[in-house]
Amino acid sequence: MVALSRSGLVAALCCLSAELRPFALGVSSGTGVFEPWLEELWATEGRPGSVGGSGPGGAKPLELRIAKALGSKGYNKVRISVIGQEPQEFTDFNFTYNEQFKYRWTENFLHSALVDLQPGANKFSIGGQQVVVDLPAEDEGIRGVLWSDPCFSSKYINCKYADRFQTFNHSIAMLNAAFADQSMNMFSILGDNFYDQTGELSKTFFDRLSPEVKRRFMLIVSGNHDNWVCGGPNCGTKSDNFAIGQMQYYPSDTVASTLAPQSDSIFLDFSKDPDANGGQYNSFQNVGTNFLVYHKLGNIGFLGFSGAAEFNDTLPHFKEACQYFNESKPATVFLLGHWNKDNDGARPGMSVPEVRTELLKLPECAFLGDRLKYMDGHQHCNFVHDKDATGPFGFMIGAHGMDDDSCEAQAGFLFMDSTKGRVRLHYFETASESRGDRFEEILACVTSHGLAGCTQLADTWLDIPVAVQESTIEWV
Ligand SMILES: *[C@@H]1O[C@H](CO)[C@@H](O)[C@H](O)[C@H]1NC(C)=O
Ligand SMILES: *[C@@H]1O[C@H](CO)[C@@H](O)[C@H](O)[C@H]1NC(C)=O
Ligand SMILES: *[C@@H]1O[C@H](CO)[C@@H](O)[C@H](O)[C@H]1NC(C)=O
Ligand SMILES: *[C@@H]1O[C@H](CO)[C@@H](O)[C@H](O)[C@H]1NC(C)=O
Repeated sequence: MVALSRSGLVAALCCLSAELRPFALGVSSGTGVFEPWLEELWATEGRPGSVGGSGPGGAKPLELRIAKALGSKGYNKVRISVIGQEPQEFTDFNFTYNEQFKYRWTENFLHSALVDLQPGANKFSIGGQQVVVDLPAEDEGIRGVLWSDPCFSSKYINCKYADRFQTFNHSIAMLNAAFADQSMNMFSILGDNFYDQTGELSKTFFDRLSPEVKRRFMLIVSGNHDNWVCGGPNCGTKSDNFAIGQMQYYPSDTVASTLAPQSDSIFLDFSKDPDANGGQYNSFQNVGTNFLVYHKLGNIGFLGFSGAAEFNDTLPHFKEACQYFNESKPATVFLLGHWNKDNDGARPGMSVPEVRTELLKLPECAFLGDRLKYMDGHQHCNFVHDKDATGPFGFMIGAHGMDDDSCEAQAGFLFMDSTKGRVRLHYFETASESRGDRFEEILACVTSHGLAGCTQLADTWLDIPVAVQESTIEWV
């Protein structure tokens, strides 16, 4: 081929196998440099991760992470972690894990402990700071915010709507406003978490979230760009993260902690050294059980997984999760994953819709029936992904800064509310081509009334009773 027209190039790219395509479909190459506004920010407050860095406003609130423990450990068990920039001894809180990050993002330190909480407010002093963790009682309704595929920098991958939708400022302002409401319980991102290879983008973002956001339950899922920043194994390099830095920066309590030699103290599996034997950067350099979580928060069950792991390796743990849900009887279970299709590093059968279908075929899981819903991202659009005669059960929430050929420019998030006897998902579209910029209107409402008081500004994607229907499910 000598000269290739633009359409000819697109045609040629379409027919290359996924292994040969330089980038995941639907996204384009980044600029290779951080934006000037980020460099300016870091020039004044210190580069993220530098010990001297003061953070915005000079204050240094705890980089706190609260995660529900694996369901099989008991409802009241919670993992409390703190991320630091230097070795630190805590005299007022008994962390059982105090280590420098391993393999990736190693300028950080992780302190973590599994603790037993009581339903209601649990007060702690951690490093001299007062922290209150509210554990909703089992089977009480909960409220949370879920997004996927957020971006604000185009260094690695083009974040097309960073400026148009002001994703950095707007995402931070909306979270801080939403979590000022004491009734909020959790925040979740379903992967491609800021398209961040080095951790600098994640830190710059998290530095600006209020302590009110960070004292709530967090559940962060891993996506293709968290493993290979370019988007898939075909373009993986030594600099890639394989979600290793991420699993330490956003610690969860996972199946890995139940498998020896791991324990509740040494809770992450570091057996896979990504750089061993010269490095195999074109494949998943992590362990699937580090991402496998199942638990209940209030009346909702969550089952999170990484699609980069093999289905057959994950299968025994999916069955354990179902067994746990059979015993703990959540009103609804949300399967949370990243990939909507098994491309770009997802293993065969590991897209979220496929996993749901397979689970419902298993004798251990079939009882869940239409109580098993899912959420995914990867496609940068927001829509009800799947429904059948019983109603909607799949929800795509991947538009949060990135563009996609299959939908208009849009950005938004899901508000989950399982209080008052119903399980509801409200989609807040903060900006789109067709509706324009609704951010200020929604923010003003949320600031005054909380998300639950602003659902007239949202599209309701799901609204079902908490009460279990005898006809569709048989809880014994
Ligand atoms: C930490 O553990 C020690 C030994 O078990 C105990 O005496 C102490 O009270 C604990 N401190 C806190 C703050 O829980
Ligand atoms: C965020 O908002 C601040 C304050 O209004 C402004 O100075 C800054 O330029 C904004 N940042 C971006 C990336 O838009
Ligand atoms: C899953 O399949 C892979 C690849 O076929 C194989 O290497 C692995 O041993 C299998 N695992 C289990 C638990 O069967
Ligand atoms: C669910 O638990 C009950 C006991 O409470 C048991 O009889 C039943 O077999 C379990 N179902 C599955 C699918 O494991």
